[in-house]
Amino acid sequence: MLIGVGLGPGDPKLLTLKAVEILKNSAKVYVPGRLAKELVAPYAEAELLKFPMTRDSEVLNTLWKENADRLVEESKKGDVAFGLIGDPNFFSTFSHLKRVMRQFYPDVEFATVPGISSITSFAARTDVAVETSFEVSDGSEIGHKVHLKARHPKKILEKMEAEGYKDFIFAERLFSEKEVIIKEKDKIPEEGNYFSIIYAKK
Ligand SMILES: C[S@@+](CC[C@H](N)C(=O)[O-])C[C@H]1O[C@@H](n2cnc3c(N)ncnc32)[C@H](O)[C@@H]1O
Repeated sequence: MLIGVGLGPGDPKLLTLKAVEILKNSAKVYVPGRLAKELVAPYAEAELLKFPMTRDSEVLNTLWKENADRLVEESKKGDVAFGLIGDPNFFSTFSHLKRVMRQFYPDVEFATVPGISSITSFAARTDVAVETSFEVSDGSEIGHKVHLKARHPKKILEKMEAEGYKDFIFAERLFSEKEVIIKEKDKIPEEGNYFSIIYAKK
C-alpha cells in the first residue's frame, strides 16, 4: 500500500501520533524535499523522490511516471510511506503521484494520513480567526467547495448544483466508528449530523 503521510507545517512537534507510527512501521519512506526529509529523520531514513519546480507538463508527466514505476513493486509488497509537508491531499505532489499510479497501476492500494495543513497553521501563527466562509486559491480557477456544518445536505447540494458544481461527497463523523461517506449524489440524505461536510467539485 502507498500511504501519503501529512507531516504538518514544519514544526517537528506538529506531526500526528499516527504519522509517526506509519513512518516507523513502513518498509520504505520517501519524501519530495529537504524539509520533509528532516521531519521524517527521527523515525525513518527517507529517500528523496525527484519533483522539480516546473510547470512544463511534459517534463512533469515523465517524472511522475518514473516515480510511479519506481514505487509500484514496493507498494504491492508492503507499506510504503510518502511524507509530505502539511496535508497530503491539499496542493500536494502525493495527488499527482496517486493519479499517475492509478492510471498505470490500478491495483496499487492507497491510504492517507491527514496532516496539519498550512491552511489552518497560518491562523495559529498570525492571530487570525476565520469565522465565515473563505476561499483558498493558488491562482487557478475555483473548482472545489467544502461546506461545513452540513445539517441539511440535500438543500446545500441543490444550491451548489445551481452554482455549477457536478460531483458531490457527503462525509459525516469522519475517523469515528460512526463514519458515513456517501459518493452517490442520489443517496445524499435530507438531514445530517452536526459533524458533517459536503464536498463539491465542478
Ligand atoms: C505544494 S503546497 C503544499 C501544501 C501542503 N500540502 C499543506 O497542506 O499545507 C506548498 C505551499 O504550501 C504553503 N505552506 C506549506 N507549509 C507552510 C508553512 N509552514 N508556512 C507557510 N506556508 C506554508 C505555501 O504556500 C507553499 O507554497
